[in-house]
Order: sequence, then structure tokens, then C-alpha cells
Amino acid sequence: MKRSLFMSLVVAALACALALPLYAAPAKKAPDADITFKAPEGMKMTKSLVKFPHKKHAEVKCADCHHKKVGANEYAKCDSKGCHDNVTAKQGKDSYYAAFHGNTAKSCVGCHKAKKAEKPNVPTACDKCHPKA
Ligand code: HEC
Ligand code: HEC
Ligand code: HEC
Repeated sequence: MKRSLFMSLVVAALACALALPLYAAPAKKAPDADITFKAPEGMKMTKSLVKFPHKKHAEVKCADCHHKKVGANEYAKCDSKGCHDNVTAKQGKDSYYAAFHGNTAKSCVGCHKAKKAEKPNVPTACDKCHPKA
């Protein structure tokens, strides 16, 4: 390994180690603005990208959606390797599609269907989340 690269790695590692105790306590703030999903690597997209409003989900616990952390204070991306990274399967724990549409309390559609009677505004129809251009 080149000496300069090695040194920058040492510096980066030190910076992380020093920063950890500072950031470990408070959870990262949820963004105020809507976030827009990005296409996972290798996935052939057929629908418009979904917008997700954290603001409208204040009543849901962060960890109910962000059920996996990387390190002390970083949430894993949904499509991280070993998570919901299967971009072809429609079912199963590793299925990217099922993570958002499956019949589970953690999936967008699963939770919304369960809440529909109480909150009629939750989107459950395809076009509500994937608006047509
Ligand atoms: C509550 C919101 C929501 C609803 C309702 C919803 N989806 Fe999705 N869908 C998502 C999210 C989130 C993703 C992953 C991020 C993205 O693709 O933007 C996704 C991804 C997809 C994908 C994979 C990506 C692609 O573009 O091919 C398909 C296919 C899809 N949805 C089809 C549907 C169909 C069909 C319906 C209606 C039966 C539907 N969705 C209803 C939220 C929703
Ligand atoms: C209803 C589900 C849900 C809830 C509740 C939720 N989040 Fe998220 N959050 C998401 C999704 C989905 C993403 C996008 C994940 C991805 O890109 O793979 C995200 C992304 C994020 C990001 C990254 C933002 C960016 O710009 O990339 C942060 C930080 C975050 N959430 C913090 C929080 C915190 C803190 C809470 C609790 C106050 C929270 N979230 C509650 C679903 C949720
Ligand atoms: C655990 C339950 C739960 C999960 C998971 C969840 N939602 Fe929701 N969502 C809600 C509730 C409850 C509301 C209604 C909040 C209100 O109006 O008081 C809502 C509202 C929304 C709205 C706003 C509808 C409006 O009235 O404007 C959008 C858009 C939305 N959700 C998208 C998503 C997407 C996309 C995902 C997945 C990435 C998701 N939600 C996951 C519970 C959930």
C-alpha cells in the first residue's frame, strides 16, 4: 500500500473513532423535506420513483422502518447488500419489492392497508405512490 494512502486511512480511522462518542447518543434527524427513492443497482425500473415524506410519519417509530443500523448511528439503506437487495424476486425477506409492498407491518403498502380504516388518506393505490408522468 502506498504510504500516502495508508496515512489518509489512519487519519480517517482516527477521525471516526473520535467522532463516535459525540454522535452515538442522538439519532440522526429525519429530513424535513420529502425524500425521493433512487433506483437500486441493477434494477430495471418500470414505475415512477416514489417520494417519501418523513413529516407525515411522525407517529411511526424510526426503528419500525429503520430496523437495521450500520455502526452506532447510521441506518442501513433498504437495498444494502444482505438486506432487501434482491431486485427480481417479488416475495421473500431479501426482495426489494416485498419490502415496500409486502403484507407486513413494516412495508409501505402493508402498513397503509392496516391503517386505511382509521386514516383514509394513506396511499394504497399504485398511482398514488407512483404517479403517472
Ligand atoms: C405506499 C406507496 C406504494 C404503493 C401504494 C405502491 N408502491 Fe410500488 N413501490 C413503492 C416504493 C417505496 C418502491 C421502491 C422505490 C421506488 O421504486 O421508487 C416501489 C417500487 C415498485 C416497483 C419496483 C421498481 C420499478 O419501478 O419497477 C414496482 C414494479 C412497483 N413498485 C409496482 C407497484 C404496483 C403495481 C403498485 C400497485 C399494485 C404499487 N407499486 C403500489 C411504494 C409503493
Ligand atoms: C415509515 C417509515 C420510516 C420512518 C417511520 C422513518 N423513516 Fe427515515 N427513511 C425511511 C426510508 C424508506 C428512507 C430511505 C431509505 C433508503 O434510501 O434506502 C429513509 C431515510 C432516512 C434518512 C436518510 C435521508 C437521506 O436524505 O438519505 C435519515 C437520516 C432518516 N431516514 C432518519 C429517520 C429518523 C431519525 C426517523 C424517526 C424520527 C425516521 N427516519 C423515521 C423510512 C422511514
Ligand atoms: C408503520 C406504518 C407505515 C409505514 C411502514 C409507512 N407509512 Fe406512509 N403513512 C402512515 C400513516 C399512519 C400515514 C398518515 C399520517 C396522517 O395523515 O396522519 C401515512 C401517510 C403517508 C403519505 C401521505 C399521504 C397524504 O395524506 O398526503 C405518503 C405519501 C406515504 N405515507 C408514503 C409511504 C411510503 C412511500 C412508505 C414506505 C417507504 C410508507 N408510507 C410507509 C403509515 C405508514
